[in-house]
Amino acid sequence: MAIIRRSPTGLLTSVRSVLTGGFRQHNSLTTDLIENMDKKETWDRFYRENNAKRDFKNFEWFFGFDSVRDFILPLLRPQSDSATLRRILDLGCGTSALGPGIYKHSDWPVDVTCADISPVAVQLLQEQARSKPIQPGNPSSRLSFLELDCCRLQTQFGEQSLDVIVDKGTTDALLRSREGRPKAGSVLKQCLGVLSQSGCLLQFSDEDPDARLLWLERESGGLGAQAARIGLQEVGTLRGVCYYCYIISPPVHCDTSTPP
Ligand SMILES: C[S@@+](CC[C@H](N)C(=O)[O-])C[C@H]1O[C@@H](n2cnc3c(N)ncnc32)[C@H](O)[C@@H]1O
Repeated sequence: MAIIRRSPTGLLTSVRSVLTGGFRQHNSLTTDLIENMDKKETWDRFYRENNAKRDFKNFEWFFGFDSVRDFILPLLRPQSDSATLRRILDLGCGTSALGPGIYKHSDWPVDVTCADISPVAVQLLQEQARSKPIQPGNPSSRLSFLELDCCRLQTQFGEQSLDVIVDKGTTDALLRSREGRPKAGSVLKQCLGVLSQSGCLLQFSDEDPDARLLWLERESGGLGAQAARIGLQEVGTLRGVCYYCYIISPPVHCDTSTPP
């Protein structure tokens, strides 16, 4: 019963779809996935076992690039004629094809970093890109891979150094873990710190707006003039579960200084 309370339908659906892929015997992995999705060891084991027998195949926790491309690609348009690369982070990329998809399909120049706490996932994704090089949509675009605990985001990325952060299921994983909630709050605050003023964080999630919007408002500094701006769009339904895109932008800093 306790497990069900901590694990809304979408999570159970995802875990079940993993189990039907030949993991039924690994009961401790199932428990880990339900309780410890904030732990590196859980994910190392998940990606190792998921890739033990088969040729590499991108694993999507839910939805692939095609389902979310229309939320992401329009944000990559350069802000001015002289603008340089738009800097994109796939936060908790796993072995998803999302980051490589952005690199491949963006006509505008992008610098995409795929980052995950699991070195197993990062290595698998990197090896795949090496063995089957992806043609970028723009010749100036870049794609890189990084082992990173997103709780330490600000040690890796400077203030206002990113334009778009994409989080597909990563905050969900932290929020639904036994010890992950404080980490999720810290990651959100750090995302807002490393995003440029015109940047945004996209969280793809199955969490109900009643719960997620309240959490986002609280953790990003509440309401008022200095609050982050939060929007919401429906992505679609998968296996009977509705998914959303939460769009979070840093607070607008008005320059109140008197001109000389
Ligand atoms: C639910 S999976 C989603 C993976 C991928 N985004 C997808 O859509 O398939 C959550 C991912 O978050 C990663 N993760 C969990 N905690 C993390 C942390 N503290 N820092 C970076 N990545 C983390 C896991 O390794 C896992 O790949």
